[in-house]
Amino acid sequence: DAEGYTHFMRKEIHEQPGAVERALGGRLDERFHTAHLGGLNLDAREARGIRRVKILGCGSAYYAGQVGAQLIEELARIPADAEPASEFRYRNPVVEPDTLYIAVSQSGETYDTLVAVQELRRKGGRVLGVVNAVGSAIARECDGGVYLHAGPEIAVASTKAYTSQAVVFALLALHLGRIRDLSPSDGRRICEGLRRLPGQIEEILKQEDRIAALAADLATYRSMLFIGRVRGWPIARESAQKLKEVSYVHAEAYPSSELKHGPLALVNPELPTVAIVPDDDLLDKNQSTLGEIRARRGRVLTVGHRELGDDSLVVPKSEPELDPILLTIPLQLLAYHAAVALGNDVDKPRNLAKSVTVE
Ligand code: M6R
Repeated sequence: DAEGYTHFMRKEIHEQPGAVERALGGRLDERFHTAHLGGLNLDAREARGIRRVKILGCGSAYYAGQVGAQLIEELARIPADAEPASEFRYRNPVVEPDTLYIAVSQSGETYDTLVAVQELRRKGGRVLGVVNAVGSAIARECDGGVYLHAGPEIAVASTKAYTSQAVVFALLALHLGRIRDLSPSDGRRICEGLRRLPGQIEEILKQEDRIAALAADLATYRSMLFIGRVRGWPIARESAQKLKEVSYVHAEAYPSSELKHGPLALVNPELPTVAIVPDDDLLDKNQSTLGEIRARRGRVLTVGHRELGDDSLVVPKSEPELDPILLTIPLQLLAYHAAVALGNDVDKPRNLAKSVTVE
């Protein structure tokens, strides 16, 4: 029973302010504008020796990993990228001693991620876990790690775990940044931004009725495009996946910059676009992309910090590096309400399992 909520997915979306509080709990250091993460097993000298970060996970954990890679690169200035663990394990990757590997998993039981970790360990790689389930197989295999403390996630579609993963990556990036090149003032800015998140998520959740009405309308289309640039790109991917998973409406995510290299051919009045358009240094570029879509009579729903047309979801402004955390939340509600409008089994979508413990 979803304790008074219609579905676990909705309950878990609404639990996010608390989940973020717990992910942050006792980890921010206001004096030195950094984060402390007890279980890393990585001292400052070792952390300064990291030359590269590679993040591995599946599905939403992989998209959270992409958010994490961007945060680590921006705040700690370490080259970082994310790859699906399910691909990594099959391609005999080069394992480097000065690369920090990070495995991300809500359940800690995803077989592809577990095998990737085991292969890395066999070849001498150092692996941290960003895991929700305490004592799970992946948590046990890693050299160290950070627990999300998001509480149990029951709905097949991940919501609060994804958000908590992104928050933990922000903490890790802050921690690595502050023992490398990140200035105290930027450290303070990120700390303050993180502290504001729970209240800002509450604000977004208050828009649920409006998002539900939009979702019922959008659920009548057969297919949708999700686009975003740089920080908006993993948001687009995660949000498209969420919509597909629970509503079964086809959705495709593209970087906004790639639109003119192919998918623009699809745009017509029957294909709405969800565009991630934060108020950042890419706003002008993003607005010209919106113009290209509208010129082809494509309907656009924007998610950002201001009204940008007929259908705009406006979220409170955060620090730009933390945008991926807040901008995803209205789109979780959009996917949820599209699925409800279509009468789907929201918590147990067809063909899917909560954790994929097989090949
Ligand atoms: O338990 P994990 O985080 O390792 O699960 C990974 C994916 O299977 C999971 O995120 C999946 O993509 C979700 N159903 C997404 O909503």
